[in-house]
Amino acid sequence: MASSSNPFLFAFISLVFFFYFFVFSENKSFVSAIREEVSELQLTHHHHVPLTSLLPSSSCNSPPLGANRNGSLEVVHKHGPCSKLKQPSSSSSPSSFIIQHSEILKQDEARVRAIQSKLSKTRQNHHQEQVETSNKGAGGTQLPAKSGIPLGVGNYYVTVGLGSPKRDLFLVFDTGSDLTWTQCKPCVRSCYSQKQPIFDPSQSSSYSNISCSSSQCSQLVSATGIKPACSKATRACIYGIQYGDGSFSAGFFAKEKLTVSPTDVFDNFFFGCGQYNQGLFRGIAGLLGLGRTVLSFTEQTAGKYGKMFSYCLPSSPSTVGYIAFGGRKGSSGNVKFTPLTSISRGSSFYGLDFTGITVAGMNLQISASVFSSGTIIDSGTVITRLPPAAYGPLRDSFQKKMSRYPKADPLSILDTCYNLKGYNNVDIPTISLSFGGGVTVELDVTGVLLVAREEKVCLAFAANKDNGDVAIIGNQQQKTLEVAYDVAGKKIGFRPRACK
Ligand SMILES: *[C@@H]1O[C@H](CO)[C@@H](O)[C@H](O)[C@H]1NC(C)=O
Ligand SMILES: *[C@@H]1O[C@H](CO)[C@@H](O)[C@H](O)[C@H]1NC(C)=O
Repeated sequence: MASSSNPFLFAFISLVFFFYFFVFSENKSFVSAIREEVSELQLTHHHHVPLTSLLPSSSCNSPPLGANRNGSLEVVHKHGPCSKLKQPSSSSSPSSFIIQHSEILKQDEARVRAIQSKLSKTRQNHHQEQVETSNKGAGGTQLPAKSGIPLGVGNYYVTVGLGSPKRDLFLVFDTGSDLTWTQCKPCVRSCYSQKQPIFDPSQSSSYSNISCSSSQCSQLVSATGIKPACSKATRACIYGIQYGDGSFSAGFFAKEKLTVSPTDVFDNFFFGCGQYNQGLFRGIAGLLGLGRTVLSFTEQTAGKYGKMFSYCLPSSPSTVGYIAFGGRKGSSGNVKFTPLTSISRGSSFYGLDFTGITVAGMNLQISASVFSSGTIIDSGTVITRLPPAAYGPLRDSFQKKMSRYPKADPLSILDTCYNLKGYNNVDIPTISLSFGGGVTVELDVTGVLLVAREEKVCLAFAANKDNGDVAIIGNQQQKTLEVAYDVAGKKIGFRPRACK
């Protein structure tokens, strides 16, 4: 068939061509506007990503991130390939980097239960917070009773210097607790194994014990929830702190020179010098307490940093993030702030006003009263916990948008999982969280999904047991956001895409 010889067809084709030319070329601005809108719709409502970009990597892909910038430290995931906690022998095998998600989620559940029980207790009865302990003085120190601030341990660490001369220590940082502590020689009862040499106060010229009669010793109750004990021999103040996963530290309450960076040195920093430590700290030397009560790092360094810090948790364990102390002039313009609230009097936790959830550009119909039990943001909780009446609509809407993908069995507390094996690219609906003051924060795709492996990719949110439990914004959802805490200014800010 010589169709081109048909004059009608020729005319028709010309017409079509002309029409095409007219609409798509003459009206270029109209077309490109539509195109932009379509691509914007896709951009803002879905993450279109190669599946491989979501999978765990076995090598550390981070160039050192301005680690020597004043007042700012690298933030490293404990279990990832950038971690320096592993022994060199095991780090050569890629399998040593496989993260045990179910184990992490189990610990996470312990931390959340502990937060809930602490908050419900302090709400019921503020003055019953001080709990009996069975501390019996130095040497013969008994483990404090089963109380205290019972949190599991966070999963990101920083490096700070302690003592004179300074020793570098890996400390987990935790916005949900206050006391900073490290394991100390001679480990009167026991120490777990850590990567760096255990801090030895007898080798530091700037160490001193705190006496039982000092006001700081009595402030320990608010930082640890446990009344301090007193050494009979030297009247040295003895602290104890226990976490929800069973981990604990007990020892001498002391002061020491703390070095954050060469220009940021704190001469009399109060910390716990732990002689008896056990638990899931695995390789790290202790904990940096960034909570809100009087002995926290935030409060002790207020003179220099003005109770301000901001961090960015990396998108994956194979990159590093940062924590910066003090006000930061450069980036603050892009930070959106929401009011900081108190969840209960004297609590370490940072509260904020959670108002709504958006999935793929659609605001979920959730009544404001659903969030009336309050919300905290926590660096140590992994998975965000929502009131059941908010989680249900989120899950349903997410499942609807993901209906083209085959489902997979739940992973621990995560009930919405998919098997994405065989897909090159995937379209993941965006999720945004809204807070008081009209602040809406779009989460990174790593804040939407927890990717255990190709066959197990899960919505990274979970429901609280009870609508009366406090909601918790966990660290999975905070990834790649700068989270700026301005305690004096009573506000918390978010800036997207602040780190990789
Ligand atoms: C750190 O601060 C000191 C003194 O304020 C300054 O001289 C130095 O250049 C700063 N270093 C960096 C990396 O900003
Ligand atoms: C701190 O107190 C402990 C226990 O009483 C004691 O063994 C240690 O020598 C004291 N350290 C200093 C520097 O006073």
